[in-house]
Amino acid sequence: MIDLIEKEQMIRRSRSHSEEDQQLIGAGGYLSPNEYLLNDVLIAVTLKKPVLLKGPTGAGKTKLAETVSQYFSQPVQSINCSVDLDAEALLGFKTIVAKDGLNSIEFVEGPVIEAMKKGHILYIDEINMAKSETLPILHSVLDYRRMLTNPYTGEVINAHPDFTVISAINEGYIGTTPMNEALKNRFISFSIPYISGDLLENLWNDLFPTAPRQLHTLMLNLAEDLKEQVIQGLLSEEAASIRSLQYAMELALYIDPMRAINYAIAEKLEDEQEKRLVLELASSWIK
Ligand SMILES: Nc1ncnc2c1ncn2[C@@H]1O[C@H](COP(=O)(O)OP(=O)(O)O)[C@@H](O)[C@H]1O
Ligand SMILES: [Mg+2]
Repeated sequence: MIDLIEKEQMIRRSRSHSEEDQQLIGAGGYLSPNEYLLNDVLIAVTLKKPVLLKGPTGAGKTKLAETVSQYFSQPVQSINCSVDLDAEALLGFKTIVAKDGLNSIEFVEGPVIEAMKKGHILYIDEINMAKSETLPILHSVLDYRRMLTNPYTGEVINAHPDFTVISAINEGYIGTTPMNEALKNRFISFSIPYISGDLLENLWNDLFPTAPRQLHTLMLNLAEDLKEQVIQGLLSEEAASIRSLQYAMELALYIDPMRAINYAIAEKLEDEQEKRLVLELASSWIK
């Protein structure tokens, strides 16, 4: 199995990219919650299957996509979905250009077409935020056909062999609609959990190697507590976000840790009781 991914890595790393596109290669750094998740995502990508990362905010979905990019030295084109996302934002648009005193119409390629042609990774963030009528344009891109007929120009585009799609969703999040079945069916789907325990300790060591030990311990204990309270149903899921914990840690290097935790975690919760609970849990580790 490893051979398969490594062979693909050699092929993809041998491609040359413009200097501008090289800037779009991710830095990596995703820590896999178990020994197989990252590997399995790389297998799915190698098999040219679109990948769907499902998980709460700040669980490392974007980091994982950047790590795939780094592994294959492959640039990423990103799309952030919203209700305003339309076909032009995906595919591109026509524009008038003046050349040698003459006006002509040119098509400016959008991220989907650029990624298909150049063999980049297309990262579609919050794919369930898009209106359901927009995404069916991508059906032929996402299944075995890996092609698209550009409705604006009539051009038929067959995807470069390296072309990869990675999408992310936060299921059940406000403002999202359930993902359309035909769309979802085209993906290999992975649940991305918040990391904890030793792995989180590794992350803190990577990110904050010089931070005081007691701060590491505080943020680890708090992370465990928050995760536990989420399981108990006493806190909403995003209370245990790794991103928020990381921000709290960054602030706590300079200000009182209780204030840091308040700004980075508690204040972002809607419910007053949840805010109080976070602060109580934190203070129980400080004294
Ligand atoms: N498993 C993980 N490995 C490495 N970093 C992580 C992990 N989980 C969360 N992070 C950190 O948390 C922050 C948020 O991650 P991000 O990928 O932006 O989350 P998401 O896209 O799921 O909202 C980043 O700074 C990232 O470094
Ligand atoms: Mg993200």
